[in-house]
Amino acid sequence: MNVLVIGSGGREHALSWKLAQSEKVNELYIAPGNAGTVSVGTNLSIQVNDFEAIKQAVLLHDIKMIVVGPEDPLVNGIRDFFEADDTISHVSVIGPNAKGAQLEGSKEYSKQFMMRHNIPTAKYASFTIANISDGYKFLESLSPPYVLKADGLAAGKGVLILENLSIAKLELEAMLSHAKFGAASKKVVIEEFLTGIELSVFVLTDGTSYKILPEAKDYKRIGEGDIGLNTGGMGAISPVPFAQDGFLKKVEEQVVKPTVEGLNKEGFNYKGFIFIGIMNQDGEPQVVEYNVRMGDPETEAVIPRIKSDLMDLFEGVAEGNLSEKEFEIDPRTATTVVMVSGGYPEEYEKNKEVTGLLENTESLIFHSGTKLEDSKVWTNGGRVFAVTGMANTQKEALKLAYNDVQKIKFDKVNYRTDIGFDLK
Ligand code: AMP
Ligand code: GLY
Repeated sequence: MNVLVIGSGGREHALSWKLAQSEKVNELYIAPGNAGTVSVGTNLSIQVNDFEAIKQAVLLHDIKMIVVGPEDPLVNGIRDFFEADDTISHVSVIGPNAKGAQLEGSKEYSKQFMMRHNIPTAKYASFTIANISDGYKFLESLSPPYVLKADGLAAGKGVLILENLSIAKLELEAMLSHAKFGAASKKVVIEEFLTGIELSVFVLTDGTSYKILPEAKDYKRIGEGDIGLNTGGMGAISPVPFAQDGFLKKVEEQVVKPTVEGLNKEGFNYKGFIFIGIMNQDGEPQVVEYNVRMGDPETEAVIPRIKSDLMDLFEGVAEGNLSEKEFEIDPRTATTVVMVSGGYPEEYEKNKEVTGLLENTESLIFHSGTKLEDSKVWTNGGRVFAVTGMANTQKEALKLAYNDVQKIKFDKVNYRTDIGFDLK
């Protein structure tokens, strides 16, 4: 079968790398891809939200399945677009429809879903400009820190955590009255602060049955010791030592099962990934958020730990027989270190030549913001590479990853040297 992966990050490189190993995949295409995906498939110069161009490529290359990496095209209804068009409705889409994608596209929608299905999550209320004074009162009823979330998609920046009540009120006003996050903050969810350690749980579902993929921990902050600005993710580790079997069992019983059953009962026909941000609060799981896709860089640690054929699992999702599919996980530890452009997550420069790539053999080098030009690799984004080591222990895995990180060179490169520091 010919398959198209939509997206251009390390997540899409990892998914494509894995799919390319399947005997069930004939031609693999990536749109738009990066300099790394060229080594596992054919890049198509199409942007992720250009559904018409994606349709033409699907017809031209006889593509029978598309795997959607990022949330944007899902929230914009790529699956609905395919289902509504007779010429492409036979193509399987791995990813939910626009209704399902609202679990990520609207914080309020996802909180309401959790409430309907008794899924543990922080207490919350939502507000618009019309009832902003109720918002102030709600803030007064909580104790600090205060958590304010823009309801809509805000490129991962729409969550504010504030220590001070008067600043929280000013920020609420900035979000509702002054469109701090544009249309995304026309509505704001305010919620109770959850304490504990966070982990990411990934579920693949055909709408009724599910497989729980390896869990991961993401290192979000730019600075060592997990301080400084939030980024898309500076590293990831899988498995997560503090998520022992007992805790993951609770996650499955209290979160995963009611989520999939809820989606099924409400007729979502959800097919794809669910990425659940979970807080381990004194051994009890609390849902922080749903995403309707895989995480990046978590995917670069999670996918290498899946031993089974990913294409076989995706066929199970598409055909509704995922429960019959073999699913085996590699017990080794995967550690991912992200190499970024200096300045990221604020201003940074692109178009720096990358050298030292050919010498790398011990770890898996997934490309994110890279492009190929004049047979050379150039930086093309904030996060540039995700380097994954795999070994029996976290320490050995990190050694493999960092060995290769040190060989890859580009101007103003930056990375954290302490991935996994808290999990020894
Ligand atoms: P979200 O986009 O909802 O995942 O929020 C971004 C980040 O803010 C999460 O990954 C958490 O680290 C943090 N966060 C969100 N909600 C809460 C909460 N209720 N309590 C504590 N931290 C939170
Ligand atoms: N690494 C977090 C995310 O993909 O949203």
